[in-house]
Amino acid sequence: MFEALASTPQKPYNTSMTLKVAIACDHGGVVLKEYLKSSFTDYEWIDLGTNGSDSVDYPDYGYKLAEVIKTGEAEYGVAICGSGIGISIAANRYKEIRAALCNNATMARLSREHNDANIVCLGARLTGDLLAKEIVETFLTTNFEGGRHERRRDKLTQKGQP
Ligand code: RB5
Repeated sequence: MFEALASTPQKPYNTSMTLKVAIACDHGGVVLKEYLKSSFTDYEWIDLGTNGSDSVDYPDYGYKLAEVIKTGEAEYGVAICGSGIGISIAANRYKEIRAALCNNATMARLSREHNDANIVCLGARLTGDLLAKEIVETFLTTNFEGGRHERRRDKLTQKGQP
């Protein structure tokens, strides 16, 4: 059997539990990060930075976010850089992480239903605020379908680097 399958907890529908969501970005994503945090006040946000306009390296923030998801400190993550590409590559270097770069709500829905993604990645320079909000809302309110997708999800975890 596969070891530690990093199964993602299901969303707390109709309960008083507050979902913990970690968010991290490089300098290209600071404005969008703040917008998303202020748009969703029902979630408990764990803000891992960055917080200013000084140039930083997206791998550092992708790794910070991955660690927080890996340890279970947050259930889900939102990762933002200019294109969304760099920070998604960084986060996906962890075997516990399934980071999905999403350009629309359908991708966000499928990333949860089929892939059990635990981080949604956004390109702040390519995706407008309202669309990004819709993507994050869809991501955080869609459950993994399980069934045949479970076996495939588990194969991703098995192949990942320790
Ligand atoms: C930083 O300028 C930019 O390269 C970064 O935000 C991201 O787009 C990388 O994938």
